[in-house]
Amino acid sequence: MRLPRIMMAPMAGITDAPYRKICRAMGLELAYTEMVSSRGLIYENERTEDYIINPDEPPSLGVQLFGNDPEVMASATKRLGEIGRYDFLDLNMGCPARKIMTNRDGCQLMRTPLLAGEIIAAMRRVTQKPLSAKMRLGLTRSSVNVLEVAKRVEAAGADFIIVHGRTADQMYTGRADWEMIAQVKEAMTIPVIGNGDIFSVRDYIDRQAYGVDGFMLARGIQGNPWLIRDILLYEETGEIAPPPTLRERVEVARRHLDEIISIKGPGAIPEFRKHAGWYFKGIPGSAKFRAALSNLNSAAEFRELTEPWLDIQG
Ligand SMILES: Cc1cc2nc3c(=O)[nH]c(=O)nc-3n(C[C@H](O)[C@H](O)[C@H](O)COP(=O)(O)O)c2cc1C
Repeated sequence: MRLPRIMMAPMAGITDAPYRKICRAMGLELAYTEMVSSRGLIYENERTEDYIINPDEPPSLGVQLFGNDPEVMASATKRLGEIGRYDFLDLNMGCPARKIMTNRDGCQLMRTPLLAGEIIAAMRRVTQKPLSAKMRLGLTRSSVNVLEVAKRVEAAGADFIIVHGRTADQMYTGRADWEMIAQVKEAMTIPVIGNGDIFSVRDYIDRQAYGVDGFMLARGIQGNPWLIRDILLYEETGEIAPPPTLRERVEVARRHLDEIISIKGPGAIPEFRKHAGWYFKGIPGSAKFRAALSNLNSAAEFRELTEPWLDIQG
């Protein structure tokens, strides 16, 4: 198994097939789907399959499953192999959303390290693809148990782990604790991927000190797929690229909307609003722009809306 230095984090509502395509054009090698329900998969819920299937998607595609029942997770893994291609498989042990946690899924699995190990073992029995678990530090600061959980999933057959340096109760507040991520790396035999607060090439450079085997990018690529290109450029040449020009932002945003319409259909245009807000954050007049976005009905309208920006320098 070869792991790329950077990978796209699974993000519900963000890392769908259109956005994965935009990021691949920036040089991304390994992209993860949004989290996928194991139960949804085995009950052949079409909406669930939509998250995954895109026959034209180049490698490498990682699928992330959530659930808490070893048998259901094993069946879902088998089902995945039947409905489409995947190259990597991940168990969600980090989602802190109430809806997920009350079903004992996501980060709630960190409360039961034995069960987490059983789930990984059950998935391991039915797939030979690289298998990982993505976890946080624990549920709360006073119950940090990432080392114990990481050891369990390693013993159960995981090929690598991804550690987001926050506890569940922090949600996305405060700072990711990279010292703790480094401690996990020290203690493990399998590779450890670090995750949390990489918003710029500088952040990426700073995190090199923690000795992890790779980095997962999440909020840093919302509206900024250039972060991928810029990190790869830095790795290759040591140079730090200037930020994208307004023209580049317009061009990529237009392409993104075109991909949404072509892959998901015009009904998905409202999903583009949040992305557009991120692409043009901080641009003068963007409040008016956001208001216009809420009534967006077509790619042609978006072209018209962004046309004046093509001539602005910078
Ligand atoms: C909108 C949003 C959706 C997310 N969805 C998922 C998900 O489906 N599965 C998952 O493991 N993590 C999910 N995450 C967490 C990210 O993958 C990542 O661990 C977290 O944002 C920390 O990285 P960052 O500080 O670089 O953003 C999500 C985060 C955000 C902001």
